[in-house]
Amino acid sequence: MSLVLSGQNLVLIGFMGSGKSSVGRELAKRWSFRFVDTDSIIRRRYELSIPDLFSKYGEPFFREAEYQTLVRLQGTQRAIIATGGGIVIQPRNIPLLKDLGRVVWLCASQDAILRRIGKSTHRPMLNQADPEESISRLLSERIPLYQQLADLQIETSGLTHADVADRIIKGLESFS
Ligand code: S3P
Repeated sequence: MSLVLSGQNLVLIGFMGSGKSSVGRELAKRWSFRFVDTDSIIRRRYELSIPDLFSKYGEPFFREAEYQTLVRLQGTQRAIIATGGGIVIQPRNIPLLKDLGRVVWLCASQDAILRRIGKSTHRPMLNQADPEESISRLLSERIPLYQQLADLQIETSGLTHADVADRIIKGLESFS
């Protein structure tokens, strides 16, 4: 049975700038699913932007909020769930992500990521002297984690969000 008919969720994982939110909105619109974004839930819960949350309470506090968000999302149906790029670094998040539904990894080359987010100022994980070095280090830590968790991997470099949505739908056909 297709994902749409079964009502299962679709979980989008991937590095910052991989297009999880934009692609997620596009898929939610096409399927009439709810769109859920873990970062937005955290922003609303604490009434703070993610950079403000990091600077006020620190990264461990944010990671705990991310975990709690996943716990609260258990039982959700018919949703496209976009996650923060670091959701995979906590082992306790992995079974929660798997239980939510099929997991799709949106990946892109380091160059594409650097072009998309190299100069962004609202990403606390990149507020370092050398964002390029941070991207490279975080990517090498995280790629194996994304790879291990994903049911489906979609290369997004050079594609529009609509193209990526098309590829996801095609990729998911093999599961139906
Ligand atoms: C983070 C990615 C961000 C956000 C936070 C931490 C990370 O989400 O959750 O700034 O550790 O990679 P996006 O991937 O949506 O930018």
